[in-house]
Amino acid sequence: MKPRHKLLFVLCPMLVLGFIYYSSGKLHLHVWGQKPQREAEETTVVVLSLNKGAEVKRIAEMETDISVGRIIGSVYDKQGFLLQLDTKLPLDLTYKYGNLSEGACKPEYAANKMALIYPKFRKSAPMFLDQNYKRLHNVCTYMPPFGLKTQEKIIDSILSETKSYGLGEKLDSLSCKRCIIVGNGGILFNKSLGSRIDDYDVVVRLNEAPIKGYFKDVGTKTTLRITYPEGAFQKPENYEKDSLFVFSAFKQLDFKWLRHMVFKEKLRGIDGFWKSVAHYVPREPTEIRILNPYFIQEAAFQFIGLPFNGGAMGKGNVPTLGTVAITMALHNCDEVAVAGFGYDMNTPNAPLHYYETVKMSVIKESWTHNISKEKEFLRKLVKANVITDLTNGI
Ligand SMILES: *[C@@H]1O[C@H](CO)[C@@H](O)[C@H](O)[C@H]1NC(C)=O
Ligand SMILES: *[C@@H]1O[C@H](CO)[C@@H](O)[C@H](O)[C@H]1NC(C)=O
Ligand SMILES: *[C@@H]1O[C@H](CO)[C@@H](O)[C@H](O)[C@H]1NC(C)=O
Repeated sequence: MKPRHKLLFVLCPMLVLGFIYYSSGKLHLHVWGQKPQREAEETTVVVLSLNKGAEVKRIAEMETDISVGRIIGSVYDKQGFLLQLDTKLPLDLTYKYGNLSEGACKPEYAANKMALIYPKFRKSAPMFLDQNYKRLHNVCTYMPPFGLKTQEKIIDSILSETKSYGLGEKLDSLSCKRCIIVGNGGILFNKSLGSRIDDYDVVVRLNEAPIKGYFKDVGTKTTLRITYPEGAFQKPENYEKDSLFVFSAFKQLDFKWLRHMVFKEKLRGIDGFWKSVAHYVPREPTEIRILNPYFIQEAAFQFIGLPFNGGAMGKGNVPTLGTVAITMALHNCDEVAVAGFGYDMNTPNAPLHYYETVKMSVIKESWTHNISKEKEFLRKLVKANVITDLTNGI
């Protein structure tokens, strides 16, 4: 199809839908009796055939039917994702990427694909906080984990000490970055993906998933290690030398912990953590970053659709760190891959993590996370080719 025909093809249904939507809005006004004179005139055409009073209920039903059932429902799901996830590239992107040599990094690929299935997506959102963080979208209106409200003072002091806010000169200057988020799933075990993982420009690992002893399966390179206090390595020798320590806060107390780690202060009293935490992180302040909490907020409320709970942490509304990292990558990497995500529930004796012998059968109902809802979101990304899943667990 020629581009111009294609445009018409898209435009016509939109006009029709727009008209129906417009009309339903007018009906709505009429039904609830808020009809300023001009509105009433405009709606006469629609209302003429209707018998006032008795028909009111039917109009209300019709309106619900139109706006939810037929207009929104047929194209997008509740979260705003396209229902028909297509893996085909539209013409403009086929042109854009068609000329690249085989296997070359495709600029903005993940963000472009994401915007196709989720039109509300806006790429711009920095990976880490810098001293202008108060200008970031929405982060100062929510408390942790969804924002930074109440923690501004402590964050200001941490940022003035860390002084570095990017990925480092070499990676920041790359015009096209490929990232891989390595999950901790047992699904990575004995798959020999190590060298493929090392080929990515940015290798993101989570919490205390080790690489020592698992090079063949998980690779040797770590660009970022994202953790919260309870997930951080407790043994200093486990930290990789050339990786950035990226902190992700899930509660207010976490920032206090980070300040102790950055200023290398002795940690007294560890009440409030749900398991023992590291007392020392062997990284210089310039090797420490704070992850932009917008990714937690966006993953929870926009992408997955977890309960809003007044914008505060509540039952089943905190996304897992893995999904937060993927959300970060959609905004900051040109191509995004994942490995080690998902559990195979059909093999309960498979290991839960690639580095432990704990079996999958121990996986419990979690109070904070909603694994099944999260998986629905990740499935959309994989199905539409926004991200590539090297271990096919999603
Ligand atoms: C693709 O390459 C051809 C030949 O080098 C060039 O004429 C054309 O403009 C390129 N198209 C794009 C979209 O870059
Ligand atoms: C790992 O995979 C190899 C073949 O790819 C197989 O021979 C070996 O038994 C596997 N090891 C374990 C522990 O499953
Ligand atoms: C997860 O979400 C589903 C669907 O909204 C809900 O039924 C279930 O109770 C939630 N689970 C948790 C642990 O919150």
